[in-house]
Amino acid sequence: MSLVNQQLVSDAIKVIQLTDTHVFSDDQKFYYPGIRSNQTFDAVLQRIQQNDLADTQCIFLTGDVSQDETKESYQYIVDRLTMLNLPVYWVPGNHDNVSAMTEVFAQSKLFFRIPRLSLPHWEFIFLNTQLVGDTTGIGYVSAVEMKVLDDALAQIGETNKSIAVVLHHHLTEVGTPFIDRLMVQNRAEVLQKLMAARVKLVIHGHVHGDYRVIRDEIVFESAPATCAQLKKGITEFAVEKKIGYKTYCFTSRGYDSVTSLWENN
Ligand SMILES: [Fe+2]
Repeated sequence: MSLVNQQLVSDAIKVIQLTDTHVFSDDQKFYYPGIRSNQTFDAVLQRIQQNDLADTQCIFLTGDVSQDETKESYQYIVDRLTMLNLPVYWVPGNHDNVSAMTEVFAQSKLFFRIPRLSLPHWEFIFLNTQLVGDTTGIGYVSAVEMKVLDDALAQIGETNKSIAVVLHHHLTEVGTPFIDRLMVQNRAEVLQKLMAARVKLVIHGHVHGDYRVIRDEIVFESAPATCAQLKKGITEFAVEKKIGYKTYCFTSRGYDSVTSLWENN
């Protein structure tokens, strides 16, 4: 691929997951009373620059990037992330306008919407789980995306590498009923394929919280949202004013993840 990817060839690869940024074209707008999501995004980037930027190779941006679905909101993300000068591999969420997002992100040399990223010890498959026309927030792996998954798994074939899937919606319950209503609806079919291919890890967003769930020998990890978290265990909408991100270090031995989550004051 591009020159950018050549940076990624080393034994340990550190990745930052940013998710559910929910930014606006107007950076004074509130995601929720007391929470300006453009400002919380900036605060997260500042923390990354202080603590994690120096040894990180790339970013996974896992959807619900915009709250108003404007080109300006996507441009805001490009302008800010360009300052980090890292490749950004992105998938859309239910809140995103895929055509506006694609148009804006495609103009940046650092933003990649690709089905598959091949690293020395890990293979990553990126899936779009947006259900076109839905307004409830559920996810779905369309026939087109199911073929992306099938093709990527076929290309990878028998391998000594570990396989991970990166998407917005979750594929298994995190234990918070409010958001567990809004998983990938045809997850059974997807999970069957992941188990058959011995996929090790699924990285998702959408749940607005730091979770790590193990099921059928697959680890499901999510990063905190950069705007606000949903309180764990809720059945009705309730927000926690914390912000954060997650880092992963992928090696020949597997991976580690580290969550950064703090009060947004
Ligand atoms: Fe979402």
